[in-house]
Amino acid sequence: MLAQKSVHTWVQRCAYAVRAFSNIRHGDDIVGIDFGTSKSRLAIMDAEVPTLLETESGQAVPSFVAIDDEKKILVGQVANYHAIGYPADSFFNIKTLLGRKFHDSQIQELKTKVPFKIIEGSNSEAWVEACNEQFSPTKLCAFIIDKMKRMAESYLGRSVSKAVIAAPIYFNDAQKKELELAGKIAGLDVLGIVDEPVVAALSSKNIDGGIFAVFSLGGGTFNISILEISAGVVEVKAKESDSSLRGEDFDLVLVEYMVEEIRKVYSVDVSGDRVVMGRLKEAAEKAKLELSSSCETWIDLPYLTGSECGSVHLNITLSVSKFEELVEFLIERIRKLCQKCLEAAHVDEQGIDEVILVGGMARVRQVQHIVEEIFMKSPCMQVNPEEAVAIGALLQGALIIEDRRKLSCHLIPLSLGIETLGGGFARIIDRHSVIPCMASRNIASPMDYPDSLSIRILQGEHQIASRNDLLGELKVTGIPRAPSRCV
Ligand SMILES: Nc1ncnc2c1ncn2[C@@H]1O[C@H](COP(=O)(O)OP(=O)(O)OP(=O)(O)O)[C@@H](O)[C@H]1O
Ligand SMILES: [Mg+2]
Repeated sequence: MLAQKSVHTWVQRCAYAVRAFSNIRHGDDIVGIDFGTSKSRLAIMDAEVPTLLETESGQAVPSFVAIDDEKKILVGQVANYHAIGYPADSFFNIKTLLGRKFHDSQIQELKTKVPFKIIEGSNSEAWVEACNEQFSPTKLCAFIIDKMKRMAESYLGRSVSKAVIAAPIYFNDAQKKELELAGKIAGLDVLGIVDEPVVAALSSKNIDGGIFAVFSLGGGTFNISILEISAGVVEVKAKESDSSLRGEDFDLVLVEYMVEEIRKVYSVDVSGDRVVMGRLKEAAEKAKLELSSSCETWIDLPYLTGSECGSVHLNITLSVSKFEELVEFLIERIRKLCQKCLEAAHVDEQGIDEVILVGGMARVRQVQHIVEEIFMKSPCMQVNPEEAVAIGALLQGALIIEDRRKLSCHLIPLSLGIETLGGGFARIIDRHSVIPCMASRNIASPMDYPDSLSIRILQGEHQIASRNDLLGELKVTGIPRAPSRCV
């Protein structure tokens, strides 16, 4: 049985949005997929109402894949449980691995933090290994999408063949391609890979037009995007991301606080004890969740370890104000990035028509307060932060199928340019340029009288070419003989 509770609340919330998309025939069964760093969500059109499907336990699907000793693949909650006993055989953070090279600095950092093995796979990509089996992140992602497809089919009682999948706005082309491939491996006809903030804005009642701030803080990355919707076209005016700011960072601050409390009482440092740290981390996330709806919470962790004074227990009351004091520095980082984004968009706070919150962390009161303070507006309460992306992806799919209008115009997600002598990056087409676009820039050849030139074409924002993504190499031959400055 699938949980129905959230379905009913959505019937109300989506009533305005359904109007425009009510002509979907059952034969056009389509799903909207939000493949998250920690949890994945799926939206279906159920009796013409955009509906979020949940697992039997009334939750989103944890983005976990595991392999057991009989080489059986476990997906979702069961894989999450498997991780407790067999951490090396359970994979998570799959979204971070997707479409990345093994030597990428983010992957090398992740390697030191996760209990499973990350290896160099085919084409220098980051793959994972457990029980002598190797998997590409794309394949792992496909397992999760396949599970969600089956959930939809069992709920609807018929097959589902089409999907729109949401991707973070910072994903480059290679990452988006892998996401699309994962959908195809799962047996879906992927109608589009759409930007998460763009589709989140689709869940708003003001979709007809205006300037939107989409604030997203979930399990992976903090993102803020300023969008302008006009005449059915979405333009991304500015976006900022901080890949080192995520929900877990708030938990880790609480863990640090608990370690300090234990040190004060027992003169014991538990920070090197993996089992104790695991228990503290679990308690920290639970406390954070509870403080979203109550003023204080009780952390009670008996028999953590031993000390000279006997067994170590942790019994503390944590108030919202203490929590807010501890995470203030993270909130400041959020504030700075939002202000930077407003400046980049050339929009002042009063120019924002609607603020959309996305991600589980939007439930944290201090996060809501800072958003209100920066954008001088209460966030849109009709949009459920955890559901906006999947529902928006579904609505985008409905629009594609109905072919009424194409809401998101095609933009270049990251700047395009070439590598110059000394490894610099010369930007030629700026990010957010609308496709098709043309640009030219004069760059002198580094040598006199070249017969041919090899031009490395890259995508990214870094001034050093090797920190961007190589798209290909162009060989230009038959160049008329001339000194360097003339070529
Ligand atoms: N009610 C709540 N109060 C506070 N925090 C919450 C609540 N619900 C979820 N979270 C936190 O939100 C984070 C996960 O958010 P979410 O499920 O939106 O991430 P995700 O979609 O998996 O990640 P991403 O979109 O970045 O890829 C976790 O840190 C979780 O602890
Ligand atoms: Mg998400």
